[in-house]
Order: sequence, then C-alpha cells, then structure tokens
Amino acid sequence: MEDIKLIVDGRRIDGRKPDELRNVKIEAGVLKRADGSCYIEMGNNKIVAAVYGPRSLHPKHLQNPNRVVVRYRYNMAPFSVDERKRPGPDRRSVEISKVSKEAFEPVIIKELFPRSSIDIFVEVLQADAGTRVAGINAASVALADAGIPMKGLVSAVAVGKVDGEIVLDLVKEEDNYGQADIPVATFIRAGKIEGITLLQMDGRVSKDELKKALELAKKGCMEIYRMQKEALINRCRGDEIVE
Ligand code: CDP
Repeated sequence: MEDIKLIVDGRRIDGRKPDELRNVKIEAGVLKRADGSCYIEMGNNKIVAAVYGPRSLHPKHLQNPNRVVVRYRYNMAPFSVDERKRPGPDRRSVEISKVSKEAFEPVIIKELFPRSSIDIFVEVLQADAGTRVAGINAASVALADAGIPMKGLVSAVAVGKVDGEIVLDLVKEEDNYGQADIPVATFIRAGKIEGITLLQMDGRVSKDELKKALELAKKGCMEIYRMQKEALINRCRGDEIVE
C-alpha cells in the first residue's frame, strides 16, 4: 500500500492542508439522565460522553478514603466501523480507557470527594480515526458540564506523518497508510498549555519530526480548547433560557 498518494499538491485526500483540523462540532448537555454530557463530531467521528458523579462508590473496598476514584470506559458500537466490531471490551478498548483516564489525572481535583467515584462513559457511534482523542475532548466537556472541579480542560488531537509530511488530525486512510499516528492530549488552564497528559505513537518519526508534530498538536489542541469553551458557554446560555 506504499504507493497510495495521500497528499497531492499540498492537499490531503479530504482537501485539507497539512495543518488543518477536520470540522469539529461540540455540544454540551445532550443527555438528560447523566450529570454531565457532551456530543462531539470530529470529521466523521461521532461520539457521546456521559459523566456520573461524584457519587458514593460501591462495593466499599473500591473506595479511597482520601480521594475520588475516576473510572473511564471507552466503548465502540458494533456499527461504528466498516467491519462490525464484536460488542464488549477488547484489548484495544481497555488500553484506550486506561490512557484516557490517565489524561485527566492532573486536572480533576480529587481530594474533594473521598470515598466517591466519577464515572466517565465514552461511546463511539461512528469512527474515522482519532476516536480516543475525540472521546477525551467530549469527556472533558462532559466533566465540566457535570460541575466536577477541575484545574482546566483537557484538549486532544492526533498528529502524524503522511507521505513524509507532518499532518494534523488524521483520517482513517492516513492512519492506515501513513508512517506515524501520534495521539496527544494537553492540559490547558486559562488558555495556556500546562502540560501533555497523553502521548502515544504508532509508527516511526525522527526527533525533529516529533518536535514539529508536537508543536502542531499544541496548535490543534488550542483550537479545540476554544471550541470546548464555546460549547460550555452555549450550554450556560441554554440554562438561562430554560430557567
Ligand atoms: O480511533 P483511534 O485513532 O484513537 O485508535 P486506533 O486504534 O488508531 O484506530 C484508528 C481507527 O481504526 C478507528 O478510529 C476506526 O476508524 C478504525 N478501527 C476499525 O475500523 N475497527 C476497529 N475494530 C478498531 C478501529
């Protein structure tokens, strides 16, 4: 598959430039029964996140007397991908749940809710590469929508190498036939990137390319951060109208 051209005259297969995000749509507060929720579209990815808690954690032996226990479940619907995905957890979803949870580690203020849990559910309805980062973006907004005290937001995007070029926000063909896929999550407080909370890499890049990729990822994360904030502001405006 080495001979598939993914970038022609500086344009990618969907017409984007290397440093452009796909269309992103974010809506907070979409589920009535969750404490916080969010629907996100990043290109053809369609994902819902639901947050429950803080709520008391049972069975008791799972409780931590000093801080809240955060649980994260990433799940792909069987119909979300071309070839039907067998329902239920698999190695990939267990790994994604773990690293996504860890992406929120420095952000959620855990000491406030001992013996409790915060449960984050991420349901992928339609997948087109970058679902873990899109899920993290939705989870971040859903946590804020639930009123969970946080030091900032987590904003995430994948970067990678395609046809020898560093590109932002890969689609599935770029993920499959490119040379590298690098999901990145950042912790952003008051419009400033405080740190990287998730960094994975599938493929190979040089040191300089990795540097360039991380800079591009930070730019993408800042753009997403602004859209997450906008979604939360719109959510508050909606509340005012209802009340
Ligand atoms: O989605 P993400 O890029 O975070 O994770 P990945 O493991 O790199 O998967 C890339 C893409 O492969 C997914 O977004 C899906 O579009 C696709 N995929 C699939 O078609 N069938 C699966 N069982 C898993 C992933």
